[in-house]
Amino acid sequence: MDRYAVVGNPVAHSKSPRIHEAFARATGQAMTYERLLAPIGGFAQVAEGFARAGGKGLNVTVPFKLDALAIAHSASERARAAGACNTLKRDGDRWYADNTDGAGIVRDLTVNRGVALAGRDVLVLGAGGAARGILLPMLGQDVRSIVISNRTPGKAEALAVQFAAHGPLDALAPDRIGARTFDVVVNATSAGLDGGDTGWSWPAGLFRTGAFAYDLVYADGTTAFLRWAQGQGVTRTADGIGMLIEQAAESFLLWRGVRPQTAPVFELLRPGK
Ligand code: ATR
Repeated sequence: MDRYAVVGNPVAHSKSPRIHEAFARATGQAMTYERLLAPIGGFAQVAEGFARAGGKGLNVTVPFKLDALAIAHSASERARAAGACNTLKRDGDRWYADNTDGAGIVRDLTVNRGVALAGRDVLVLGAGGAARGILLPMLGQDVRSIVISNRTPGKAEALAVQFAAHGPLDALAPDRIGARTFDVVVNATSAGLDGGDTGWSWPAGLFRTGAFAYDLVYADGTTAFLRWAQGQGVTRTADGIGMLIEQAAESFLLWRGVRPQTAPVFELLRPGK
């Protein structure tokens, strides 16, 4: 049996084992998928130990996505652009690093939610690791524009410079964005993760009629960002559960050469929705 695992700290809450076990059953792949808790500062040791024991691949979650890129011997362009790795594949005695998060959101939006990105004006709120991870795949969708806006404007400006060669990308500070409206607004901030409201200073009115609000974060209830959007009359919304499932499918494809169907896993994680 080929062995795979997700490494994180904490990792007990991870839905990845359920997702990959479902993919493996559905595609008839002989593999196991476990959870590995690594101590802070101990990612490389855990990854090497897993490889010595015959491990073929890892998913990597908070806070180890930078460490995972650092131990890799080679990396995809999207992992290098993201500056982070969520998927490692063992190749002989070497690690190959990839990042499937951006492909996950693109596939969830365009395939599962029917939201075309081509020709659209997109706003990304936030300029941390989560925002950086999705920019290259989103720019690859022939968007009309992407604006990045961040509470600390300098970080958005730095990302706009870094990705300028890949497509139409601009940075706008929250207090400069007032007159603009967008077709798709993506929340890549960690605001409201404590269960409260966003408490942020972006103005209302950024959504065009029929706009789509997408939160990278997922929750059993409605997330703070989606409550904020719905409070402005936005009806087309999704949280990040689809991105989670689609990034997993993309990792599975990298490891096993087979793309699993994702609809049954939606039903498993969000029955009846
Ligand atoms: P992640 O890896 O999840 O992206 P991160 O790199 O720490 O985490 O980035 C968090 C992002 O959420 C940042 O863009 C942060 O804005 P700052 O760069 O100004 O810190 C944003 N963020 C967090 N809390 C926020 C809040 N209450 N209002 C607005 N933005 C917030």
